[in-house]
Amino acid sequence: MDKLIIEGARKLQGEIRISGAKNAALPLIAATLLAPGWHVIHNVPDLRDTRTILVLLETLGAKWQREGSTLLINTESLNNFEASYDLVKTMRASILVLGPLLARMGKTRVSLPGGCAIGARPIDFHLQGLKIMGATLDLQDGYVTATVKKHLTGGHVYFDVPSVTGTENILMASVLAKGETVIKNAAREPEVGNLIDMLISMGAKIDGKGSDRLIIQGVKKLKPAEITTIPDRIETGTYLIAVGTAGGEATVTNCNPSHLPALTEKLRAAGLIIKESEDSIYVSRPAKVQSIDIKTQPYPGFPTDLQAQLMVLMTLANGLSVITETIFENRFMHVAELKRMGAEIKINGNSAIVKGMDQLTGARVMATDLRASASLVVAALAAHGTTEISRIYHLERGYEDMAGKLQTLGARVRREKE
Ligand code: UD1
Repeated sequence: MDKLIIEGARKLQGEIRISGAKNAALPLIAATLLAPGWHVIHNVPDLRDTRTILVLLETLGAKWQREGSTLLINTESLNNFEASYDLVKTMRASILVLGPLLARMGKTRVSLPGGCAIGARPIDFHLQGLKIMGATLDLQDGYVTATVKKHLTGGHVYFDVPSVTGTENILMASVLAKGETVIKNAAREPEVGNLIDMLISMGAKIDGKGSDRLIIQGVKKLKPAEITTIPDRIETGTYLIAVGTAGGEATVTNCNPSHLPALTEKLRAAGLIIKESEDSIYVSRPAKVQSIDIKTQPYPGFPTDLQAQLMVLMTLANGLSVITETIFENRFMHVAELKRMGAEIKINGNSAIVKGMDQLTGARVMATDLRASASLVVAALAAHGTTEISRIYHLERGYEDMAGKLQTLGARVRREKE
């Protein structure tokens, strides 16, 4: 296992290029299961999670090759319909093969993900949706086996709360179903839009992109796709916050500013200078930041995947900040580690009350999940002294070459074996 060693309290300066979005690439890769032939996906980040889903596709009989950031995937001859516990336990998003496998093969067996570090995260919406579409579900030995007699049939699926991978799974199941499917209270995240674009390019009929009501007319057959993964809005947000916290000025390039409406407004309210162009964002911190309150919400609200990083910015703000997490019930695991670096944070139910102070200090800390780990990197860049972050394999699930990218901004970051 590797650790990151960061010498902090250095201003960041320069340009940083954003990779393709992990959370978009995963469903795009899963969607290749829907149509036999060679699919081409551009701008795919090389991450632990994208490698995991490719291993999963291999176990199903797919072939793939990578040319730079372009993936070529052939799903002509699938010979297995099972996603094993070993793969699903390392990455929950493996559940994304459920819908497309069922649609293409009429049968699938996928391990249940179980709990994860940031909460229970059930998949009942996914299963309920497939049931409405005519699937028979059998839960045994930690696996769900889904079968369908002839083909899935369209139906009305309503989510109690908008679920991102739930919407994606039902979308992928519905495009080959017989008749019309309506998804109500669908997730509106840009990653869902990217998947819709891919499915439409394959011949699917989908209305309502960007809204919470998606209407899908099933078609008999789909053709292979060529699609580009959208830029990673969470990686973009993480680097904007890093510059805001450590100080300095930078331009984040190859991103899509329109995908971060809540974050850029909040950063402006905190006193950062944010200038957006079509595909880049300039950020600088002219003075000490002001405290702001945030509440995580489904898109276009403030993303839960940036809550931990924003909290670090608030540890160095003027005054008190209240950060409320409404999406996941156990997403404050970074708090204990941030306190080890001198932060003053109190948890009250699903809110964290952060008292801004003048400085953080370097310490030995441990990464606990993907976004919590990112927040520790942000804190380390601003902290006085040296911070050692262990278990950085969490970071590698979602950030492509984070150490290398931060070095281009002048950060003193190095990797060492633990
Ligand atoms: C996706 C993202 C993750 C992000 C999250 C919320 C991917 C691969 N991951 O995760 O990075 O943090 O959206 O933006 O895209 N829920 C249920 N039952 C279900 C499904 C969800 O109760 O069957 C609940 C969840 O517990 C949570 C809420 O719905 O409270 C939203 O979760 P969801 O959007 O499904 O998260 P993921 O798709 O797993």
